[in-house]
Amino acid sequence: MLSKEQILELLQPLQEPQLGVSLTELEWIRDVMVKENHVALTMVTLENRPEDTTALSDAARNLLSQHGLKDVHIRVRAASEHDRESLNMGQPDEEQDRDEVLVKGHAAGLDGHELLSPESGVRFIAVASGKGGVGKSTVTVNLAAALARQGKKVGLIDADIYGFSVPDMMGIEEYPVVEDGVIQPVERFGVKVMSMGFFIRENNPVIWRGPMLGRMLRQFFTDVQWGELDYMLLDLPPGTGDVALDVHQMLPQSKEIIVTTPHATAAFVAARAGAMAIQTDHELLGVVENMAYYECGSCGEKDYVFGRGGGGRLAESLHTSLLAQIPLGTPDNHPSEPDFSPSVYKADSRIGAIYDEVARSIESKF
Ligand SMILES: Nc1ncnc2c1ncn2[C@@H]1O[C@H](COP(=O)(O)OP(=O)(O)OP(=O)(O)O)[C@@H](O)[C@H]1O
Ligand SMILES: [Mg+2]
Repeated sequence: MLSKEQILELLQPLQEPQLGVSLTELEWIRDVMVKENHVALTMVTLENRPEDTTALSDAARNLLSQHGLKDVHIRVRAASEHDRESLNMGQPDEEQDRDEVLVKGHAAGLDGHELLSPESGVRFIAVASGKGGVGKSTVTVNLAAALARQGKKVGLIDADIYGFSVPDMMGIEEYPVVEDGVIQPVERFGVKVMSMGFFIRENNPVIWRGPMLGRMLRQFFTDVQWGELDYMLLDLPPGTGDVALDVHQMLPQSKEIIVTTPHATAAFVAARAGAMAIQTDHELLGVVENMAYYECGSCGEKDYVFGRGGGGRLAESLHTSLLAQIPLGTPDNHPSEPDFSPSVYKADSRIGAIYDEVARSIESKF
């Protein structure tokens, strides 16, 4: 059986059609999985033009078949923002080390079951809140985007099965592709996303019962080809109900962030979510206080519209730290822009920069 490295070496002659550089050298051959004589891999191209896709797939099949590999599954996708950015960057040593660790995982065929096992090396972060509407999903998608901006490989599971909102918030219009019973997550802002929203048509209400929800959620881990991941974020449903408890049980290794508004009542209710994390032995990464204040654009004065100090007091009572105070504000972009999203703040915005800081401080906590 050939190793992942041998496959990459074999495919060395394949060039990115526009750049004329070897896909292997660009590290744009991804998710290579070998099992006996079955090979699956993803090729990244700048634009994913249909004629390139066909030519590249044919060439890859040809090269592999010369080595007896006939059962070949190839997927071609367009480069994400992060892939494009990485074109200009050298590869730091640290990343190489990490890749080696992950290659081992792949040689063994890292699938969803292993993703759930503590040995996968994936850092799980569950984002919880005591009550709804405090900005839990906003915090999850922006933290995921910030980690991806820092070059991390990030997955996001919208575990709010009834109240899924992540696809809309990130401005995702595609649907995941299902190939051979394996679901490919949708990538946006360098984050691989899976949500119930992809499978429910026309906003029909979800009327599934508890056990089915648990099964569905489990499938998000087991039937999705996540590829290599550094972080997996989970947007939990609000409160301390069944799904939240399910996730806690499914992912004992997950760490947790609690989101609250500065209002005393919100913080009080959020304490229950924190208590649940502690009772189920999940380490708290900290508290994010969202909608902390309104900052006047012209005078810079802060107005604490929803009260003050709830986040700090909550962090104190849970013996954890206050990761950030995020002000009120909407992302400054327009539906006509190609990377439009209603809820993702740009890196160069004030709130985007706060999320970058949260991402950095979280990295230091693992
Ligand atoms: N800092 C902020 N400034 C302004 N609006 C915000 C901020 N954070 C969140 N919002 C808005 O508040 C609403 C609720 O946010 P979000 O959906 O993230 O909360 P949630 O806790 O996930 O809610 P749910 O309980 O419904 O899942 C959304 O319309 C979101 O755009
Ligand atoms: Mg939500």
